[in-house]
Amino acid sequence: MAWETIRYAAVEGVATVTLDRPDVFNAMNEPMRRELTECFTRLAVDDDVRVIVITGAGERAFSAGADIREFVKPPVPVKFREERKRVDFRAVMDRCPQPIIAAIRGYALGGGLELALACDIRIAAEDAQLGLTEISLAIIPGGGGTQRLPRLVGRGKALEMILTGARIGGPEALRIGLVERVVPPGEVLPAAQELARALAARAPVALRYAKEAVVKGLELPLAEGLRLENDLATLLRTTEDRLEGAKAFLEKRAPRFTGT
Ligand code: COA
Repeated sequence: MAWETIRYAAVEGVATVTLDRPDVFNAMNEPMRRELTECFTRLAVDDDVRVIVITGAGERAFSAGADIREFVKPPVPVKFREERKRVDFRAVMDRCPQPIIAAIRGYALGGGLELALACDIRIAAEDAQLGLTEISLAIIPGGGGTQRLPRLVGRGKALEMILTGARIGGPEALRIGLVERVVPPGEVLPAAQELARALAARAPVALRYAKEAVVKGLELPLAEGLRLENDLATLLRTTEDRLEGAKAFLEKRAPRFTGT
């Protein structure tokens, strides 16, 4: 499939999605939102893809958020109604059973940071700049930022960032738990891909269920979350890979997982 605003590559179970509008810091316009929705809809049912990495083209930005040039187009009422039907691509990402890793170089602002927040693990450059800057444009985050950020960094820190629109650097993002790892700029994508390859080598069904247990479990009361964990752990006892994992350990060799 030929994409206009993103690039897609899949190698040995690792898919890399690159936001590809470097001349505008990978700002997201309507075609990019459509393509990301389409791409993640397909990925959600692609069993060959075990891990997804998402990054931005060029060295200066993951994404500077919504394409602000679209904001000054005259509003058309029918478009608002159309937009209401639209599923936010970050909600489509939530349906992906595969772990999603964000590789963040440069700016991750507004919708760009919201995209990173919809990922499972974030690796940022030391000099990355992250912020929900919408308030400066007299709007609020509309791609999940007001909900996902406080769940990650807590209410006070999220409100401080959202109300001020301030940008924070990589080390501060690491300190408050907004990103999981900070590395030198040139090492962001290699680090994300190395982690993705390591995860892709795990037993595929266990990898998916581990994500499901954590991500879905967080939305549940503890007793129901524990029930979900128990159900998934029990289901995993039916896999061939579970036997292979145990045998490989006892025979002191590397396991050969097949996803069955
Ligand atoms: N939408 C559309 N274009 C954008 C953009 C966005 N979100 N962010 C950057 N660009 C464009 C600029 O208009 C400029 O285009 P030009 O070369 O045709 O003039 C180009 O990208 C480079 O941006 P510039 O502002 O000149 O670079 P900078 O290094 O001085 O600043 C940013 C970089 C990212 C800090 C600054 O562009 C910025 O604040 N962007 C808006 C971020 C934002 O508020 N996002 C949330 C939107 S809801």
